[in-house]
Amino acid sequence: MAQRTLARYLTEEQRNKGAITGDLKFLIEIVSRACLAISVAVGKGGLGEALGEAGSDNVQGEAQKKLDVLSNDILLDANEWGGHLAAMASEEMDLPHLVPHRFPKGEYLLTFDPLDGSSNIDVNVSIGTIFSVLKCPEGADLSTPEAAEKAFLQAGTQQVAAGYAVYGPTTVLVLTVGDGVVAFTLDREQGQFVLTQEGLQIPAETKEFAINMANQRHWEAPVQRYVAEMQAGRDGPLGKDYNMRWVGSMVADVHRIMTRGGIFLYPVDAKMKDKGGKLRLMYEANPMAMLVEQAGGAASTGRQRILDIEPTHLHQRVAVILGSKSEVERIAAYHRA
Ligand code: AHG
Ligand code: MN
Ligand code: MN
Repeated sequence: MAQRTLARYLTEEQRNKGAITGDLKFLIEIVSRACLAISVAVGKGGLGEALGEAGSDNVQGEAQKKLDVLSNDILLDANEWGGHLAAMASEEMDLPHLVPHRFPKGEYLLTFDPLDGSSNIDVNVSIGTIFSVLKCPEGADLSTPEAAEKAFLQAGTQQVAAGYAVYGPTTVLVLTVGDGVVAFTLDREQGQFVLTQEGLQIPAETKEFAINMANQRHWEAPVQRYVAEMQAGRDGPLGKDYNMRWVGSMVADVHRIMTRGGIFLYPVDAKMKDKGGKLRLMYEANPMAMLVEQAGGAASTGRQRILDIEPTHLHQRVAVILGSKSEVERIAAYHRA
């Protein structure tokens, strides 16, 4: 039987199920081509010019790597001419990027973390790209980048598609258009994404957790309690032994959870309380939350479902607790106790 490529999957979602529009299909295909180009750049490593510091900071005051900037440019260039987008926003840009006047504009908004896991770039550990698609509200003011920010401030429940590409031993694109979660593996010889998993489901129970233990002394009481219980293992209240994994690239940690279950926590802690958390809502937490929920898992700040948060600004940060449903619910209950 012929391979089911990403293009074919999207065509079937459009034609047979009416789940997506032609423009959304086009948008996702373009994003996938950009991910392929980023995968090639990442794969060159020390052979290319791409490793090392860019010598600049992003809007959040983080030092940019050359590959952060390159990946951002690849996504901007790929998406601005197609006529499917109204505007784009990225971790690496202070303000939204408007579609230049010489190109037609479409009804979608795209946000992305062009390269997630920057600290892992130079050490050859998995990194990725995360993206989220929203519809541009009717009559939105797109006259300036400043004015356009408002159009993006929509709850995660409004996302029409979300996905990530993980650049690991293989490049895998994981996608939802609100019809379950599917995964495509990059066939490097053919230069295309081929469907390798359908209907991804995160197991409800787990024995694996991911958290940066170096922050332990800053955590709030409910997170302290939950992690202490996991560490107590089979002798503790959870009655089973847990294992810990922390890649330090959200994409890779979430991909492990998508594949074999687990729980990921980047909670708000005392040293970042004024910022609201570490991870960014619009292009990290929301797309991952949509994917995780579509795979039968849950995503919460501990106090609220992530997808229900009404954003107030583009680069807003949030606490993220996501993965196996029963574990996320347990931590949420500890926050209420
Ligand atoms: P980015 O590289 O896009 O800034 O994101 C890094 C994020 C996320 O990928 C990861 O889970 C987390 O930061 C790692 O944080 P620590 O350095 O605290 O482990
Ligand atoms: Mn990131
Ligand atoms: Mn990033």
